[in-house]
Amino acid sequence: MDFNAALKNIFVEESEIPSEFSLPSLIHQREYLSDGVMKPWDGPVHEVYSPVCVKTENGLERKLIGSYPVCTAAEAEESLNAAVAAYNNGRGEWPTMGVAERIHRVEKFTGLMIEQKDIIVKLIMWEIGKSFADSAKEFDRTVEYIYATIDSLKNLDRDSSGFDIVDGIAAQARRSPLGVVLCMGPFNYPLNETFTTLIPALIMGNTILFKPPKFGTLLHYPLQEAFRDCFPKGVVNVIYGRGNAIVPGLMQSGKINVLTLIGSSKVANELKKQHPKVNRLRAVLGLDAKNAAIVTPNADLDLAVKEIILGALSFNGQRCTALKIIWVHKSVADQFLEKLSAAVGTLKFGMPWEKGVSLTPLPETNKIEYLNECISDALTHGASVVNENGGKSEGSFFYPAVVYPVNKEMKLYHEEQFGPIVPVVPFEDLEETIEFLIESTHGQQVSIFSNDADEVAALIDPLVNQVSRVNINTQCQRGPDVFPFTGRKDSAEGTLSVPDAIRAFSIRSLVAFKMNEQNKQLINEIVHEDTSNFLSTKFIF
Ligand code: G3H
Repeated sequence: MDFNAALKNIFVEESEIPSEFSLPSLIHQREYLSDGVMKPWDGPVHEVYSPVCVKTENGLERKLIGSYPVCTAAEAEESLNAAVAAYNNGRGEWPTMGVAERIHRVEKFTGLMIEQKDIIVKLIMWEIGKSFADSAKEFDRTVEYIYATIDSLKNLDRDSSGFDIVDGIAAQARRSPLGVVLCMGPFNYPLNETFTTLIPALIMGNTILFKPPKFGTLLHYPLQEAFRDCFPKGVVNVIYGRGNAIVPGLMQSGKINVLTLIGSSKVANELKKQHPKVNRLRAVLGLDAKNAAIVTPNADLDLAVKEIILGALSFNGQRCTALKIIWVHKSVADQFLEKLSAAVGTLKFGMPWEKGVSLTPLPETNKIEYLNECISDALTHGASVVNENGGKSEGSFFYPAVVYPVNKEMKLYHEEQFGPIVPVVPFEDLEETIEFLIESTHGQQVSIFSNDADEVAALIDPLVNQVSRVNINTQCQRGPDVFPFTGRKDSAEGTLSVPDAIRAFSIRSLVAFKMNEQNKQLINEIVHEDTSNFLSTKFIF
């Protein structure tokens, strides 16, 4: 079948969707978790359409999969008050609970979450168009992240269960919660990235207001009863509604202690400014990125192409860590482009349930128009689409375009395209690539492709001060999840990783006393009688 015909046939009729990947029914959510109860909702709702279109008499139509509440600022405020009451100035049941019991509750939640795996994985696939295999991986990675967080907290607690004695003063330092956390995740990893902030914030004793992402919303519905059943009332509250209608009021209340958002720096800036006392607000943010690959004449081009394909096109380029601009030395550019274009041509495209599929439909409704705009802007400024069929689209599907030669005049040089376009920039002197990174508003990661040790070393030193991770002959990525994940400039605030996140959502508090007989006796009594959850020498096994 020729390419155009294959593209036309990418979508199927409703009856052709394999039953093992279908949702059991439409999911019309009419309740949400707030203050320990599933509150009924009979107000306006938002209909959820999948990026997967189906062939109908009227042509291609996005498939309806359900709907969820569009609440107002009043319901968000009720949930905020529930979270504030559950925290109770740090005196609530959850923030004062011992670490072992908090861990036990999170373990119980994880068990209930695993029972919902089937429906959650299907909802990830249907809501954002991620392949079924990658949706399952996202679920498993999230469960592993939770267990790794529990282990990390146990280690932290074990290290804190003794006393330090310095200059005649003894102290026990532990990490304590910060208060109410407003947590918002992104659509591209709607479960994983949301939970990499929500779970550490929760397990450290904070109370949570959680706003699900704009796509990947319904998949959080099956977990709400588990949150209700595992944690004291008001500890986890899920808020719904238009972000610009419900979030500013929450920030303006001054009752949010931590803002955690994986999203755009523009939104993060606007929200932080709404808080009346910014000094009281901690922000843990994962933001925009425009990660570059640098391919030098000393690179193994086959390896570079393999990694760049993964880096630029996994989940259709919709990763914050994706390679979004490729710098290639002029002397190897032709060879590189030929190999890269050929490699794009081998990627399987189709419906997310197909085995081995890597290119799938896009969830954002105006995305195809935006990607076309990027391409016509690049063509106007002298570039071409160099791979066969690059930039062709059908319905919500866009076939990857390798665009060359990209220059400073083009949108693709500056903007985070967050989609399947691979902009390639030729260079003569490595200094040009360093200048690009210095001038960039982003500073997350970079990938260097070269087998010359001196050349790599000469790039590492300037680049580690521009970005937060320099990858050698390897694509950019967040994982392994125990590695620090952060960025400079507009790319992040704070560091996320398994051990870093539990620190990001807590603060050290210590109990200190002069080492005299009276105090020793007093402290021993508290510890022996087990009357404080904080001051304790108990060891969590
Ligand atoms: O969207 C950004 C994600 O953190 C990417 O994670 O690089 O491990 O796919 P990953």
